[in-house]
Amino acid sequence: MDVISVIRTKRDRGELSDEQIDWVIDAYTHGAVADEQMSALAMAILLNGMNRREIARWTAAMIASGERMDFSSLSRPTADKHSTGGVGDKITLPLAPLVAACGAAVPQLSGRGLGHTGGTLDKLESIPGWRALLSNEEMLDVLNGAGSVICAAGDGLAPADKKLYALRDVTGTVEAIPLIASSIMSKKIAEGTGSLVLDVKVGSGAFMKTLDDARELASTMVGLGTDHGVRTVALLTDMSTPLGLTAGNALEVRESVEVLAGGGPADVVDLTLALAREMLDAAGLSDADPAKALADGSAMDVWRRMISAQGGDPDAALPEARETHTVTVPSSGVLTRLDAYDIGVAAWRLGAGRARKEDPVQAGAGVVLHAKPGDSVVAGRPLLTLHTDTPERFEYALEALTSTYDVSPTGTDFSPRPTILDRIS
Ligand code: URA
Repeated sequence: MDVISVIRTKRDRGELSDEQIDWVIDAYTHGAVADEQMSALAMAILLNGMNRREIARWTAAMIASGERMDFSSLSRPTADKHSTGGVGDKITLPLAPLVAACGAAVPQLSGRGLGHTGGTLDKLESIPGWRALLSNEEMLDVLNGAGSVICAAGDGLAPADKKLYALRDVTGTVEAIPLIASSIMSKKIAEGTGSLVLDVKVGSGAFMKTLDDARELASTMVGLGTDHGVRTVALLTDMSTPLGLTAGNALEVRESVEVLAGGGPADVVDLTLALAREMLDAAGLSDADPAKALADGSAMDVWRRMISAQGGDPDAALPEARETHTVTVPSSGVLTRLDAYDIGVAAWRLGAGRARKEDPVQAGAGVVLHAKPGDSVVAGRPLLTLHTDTPERFEYALEALTSTYDVSPTGTDFSPRPTILDRIS
C-alpha cells in the first residue's frame, strides 16, 4: 500500500477500499504517513466526500487505533450526550447530574473550547480545585460514587482522531461532514456508552449553518452509532442566538447552578429537560421524571458529589472578572435578533476562549446578555455586559459586536425560532 495512491483515489473522486482506509489510519497514527500527506487526503475528502461504507470503515479504523472503555461492571445503564458545540452551551453541566439523579450512569468525556465555541472542561475548571484529568480507574470511581463524571478523554481513546483533528484544525478541513461524524462517533463508541443523544447545533454560532447540513450530519452519526450497537438519537437545536444569558466559563457555571437550583433561563431549562428525557428513554428509564429531579434538589445533590469527587469545592466563590463594560440598547422596541457567532467571538476576544490549544483562558471573562430575541428593550438600558481581567481587550471585543443585534420599534416583524428544530432517530 502506498499513501500517494490512496490520496489519488480520493482526489479523482474514487471510493477508498476497506484495506486502503485501515492502512492509512494505522500508518498515520504510527507516523508512517506524514502530516502533509494526511492533510492532502483530508482536503480530498472534504471536496469529494465519502459514502456510507467508507465513513463506517473510517470510523471503525479510528476506534481500533486505541483502547475501548468498558462500563459493563456498572449496575446502571449508561447514557451520554454530545453537542456539536455552540455559544453559551453549558447544557452538559446541569444535564449530566440530572440524568444521573434519574437512575442512569453518565460518563461524559468532554473537550476544551477552540475558536468561538466554549469547552465544557474550561467552564468546570473555573471551580476552585476541580480536576479534568482522571485515570480510567478514577473515572469509574467517580461514576460509581456520584452517578456522573465529566472529564477529559484519555490519550488512549481514538488516538488517530486526536492527531487528525489537530491537523484538520490548521488545514481548513474541519467542516467535512464525513470527518466530523467519524471524529465524534469514534470517540463516543470507543468510550463504551450504551446510549447516546446528539445535540446537533444549527445556525450562525454552530459548525452547521443550515438545517439540511445539520440533518445530513445527524443522520450520518445516528447511522454510525446504531451500526455499532449504541442506541443513538439526535436533536437538531437552534444556535442562531446564544443559549441562556451567559457566554464565558465561570459565568456559565453560575447559570448552570441556577438551573440545578430550580431557576435559570427558560431555554436552558427546556433544552436540558428535553435532552434528559431523550437520554433516559434511550437508556430504558422512560418512567423517570427529570423535572421532578430538578425541582426536589436531587440533581443538585449529584452535582455537589460529582464536583467534590473531582477535587472541586461546590461552595467556593467563582472567579469574577476585574473589569466590565456595558453596551446599552440603542432605541426602544423589541429585540428581534442577537447573533450567536458575534457573541461567541466577543467572549473569546475578552479572554474566555483560546486561539491555540496551549493558550490559557480567563475564568471570569465573557458576555452577559440582558435581553433575548423577543424581549422588549428600553433605550439606554444595558443590553450586554462584557467581562474581562484585561480591559485593553474591550475595543477588540466591541469590534465583533457592530452588527450583532436588531431592535424593531414594534416587534411585528419578529418570528420566534423554537429551540428544538427536528429529531432524527
Ligand atoms: N468535534 C469533534 O470531536 N470532531 C469534529 O470533527 C468536530 C467537532
